[in-house]
Amino acid sequence: MKGTFPVNKFRELQTPFYYYDTKVLRDTLACVNRESAKYANYSVHYAMKANANPKVLSIIRESGLGADCVSGGEVRAAIKAGFPASKVVFAGVGKSDWEINLGLDYDIFCFNVESIPELEVINELAAAKGKVANVAFRINPNVGAHTHANITTGLAENKFGISMQDMDRVIDVALEMKNVKFIGLHFHIGSQILDMTDFVALCNRVNELQDKLEARRIQIEHINVGGGLGIDYDHPNRQSVPDFQKYFHVYATHLKLRSYQTLHFELGRAIVGQCGSLISKVLYVKQGANKQFAILDAGMTDLIRPALYQAYHKIENITSEEPVQAYDVVGPICESSDVFGKAIDLNKVRRGDLIALRSAGAYGEIMASGYNCRELPKGYTSDELI
Ligand code: LLP
Repeated sequence: MKGTFPVNKFRELQTPFYYYDTKVLRDTLACVNRESAKYANYSVHYAMKANANPKVLSIIRESGLGADCVSGGEVRAAIKAGFPASKVVFAGVGKSDWEINLGLDYDIFCFNVESIPELEVINELAAAKGKVANVAFRINPNVGAHTHANITTGLAENKFGISMQDMDRVIDVALEMKNVKFIGLHFHIGSQILDMTDFVALCNRVNELQDKLEARRIQIEHINVGGGLGIDYDHPNRQSVPDFQKYFHVYATHLKLRSYQTLHFELGRAIVGQCGSLISKVLYVKQGANKQFAILDAGMTDLIRPALYQAYHKIENITSEEPVQAYDVVGPICESSDVFGKAIDLNKVRRGDLIALRSAGAYGEIMASGYNCRELPKGYTSDELI
């Protein structure tokens, strides 16, 4: 089954561009809110890195979620979009001084800290402003995730977080400092995770660490388990809203949250992934030696995931119902890796046809680049194209 698109409106626009179906986005947000509200003290932040298109952000902000940022630019974009600073968390292994200062100036809710040197800088910069910064420690839980190697983050070999052995020492250091307040622990094991047992493994690890803290009579109010819930790239229509019920239920069942604690989530892909498509025009159909190529005006500069992670995005010819043929679907960039899919069945393709690359709402537009001096793709919402 193909998606439904306002094809006539698309014909008036310069391709390639991102198209965001706001009904899918709003349905997804409603589901996140409904399912997380079933549990006391669950707080969901949107991971801005997945998509920071202002129109998308404004719909997400309206839904009441907080924001998870990984750069000063994202903190700014979150505040500009109207997310309250009291719901902004700021992570990242390498925060520059100006980025920390920005977070301090806005009085963001919490810095997720990944090393002692970073903690020292936050303490120093907060002291200079006469402030006390809330900090959570990002612990590397050494929990694997069944996903692409480039997007697992919670293994001991990854650069992220503080090792479990160092947790006690880091907490001791923080407790001695005057301008940071240690309020919680933060984790994130990876992205595009569909096997719930990975999250169960994280819960078990958090339980162990919580027991260790309790043995030391240290109470923390916040546990942040990051994001990572995957989406169904094979069937964007059949499952346009991810199974948040199952996801939150895993944490409710396996994580021993104390009554005074809040559990935070940082979901990116699961919130915006399915609402977005990259819309592109066919420039040429070229007959190769033993295959035919559909050459699009969108390339890896517009959507880098296939080239970078060998990621699959469903491809549809949205302007043809003619019988299906197989095509290698490629972009115009001067790189052999500029391929969206090989031997893809598409309704017969002709020059000028419109092609949708589905499930591209997360890590699509935001990862676009200007390589080959190309213009960045624009983003339109369905609300604008009525
Ligand atoms: N929290 C932290 C600390 C993260 O590092 C990430 C993603 C998230 C939350 C949100 O994860 P999500 O819910 O979206 O899985 N560019 C890659 C994905 C990189 C994810 C990086 N961190 C891709 O296109 O697949």
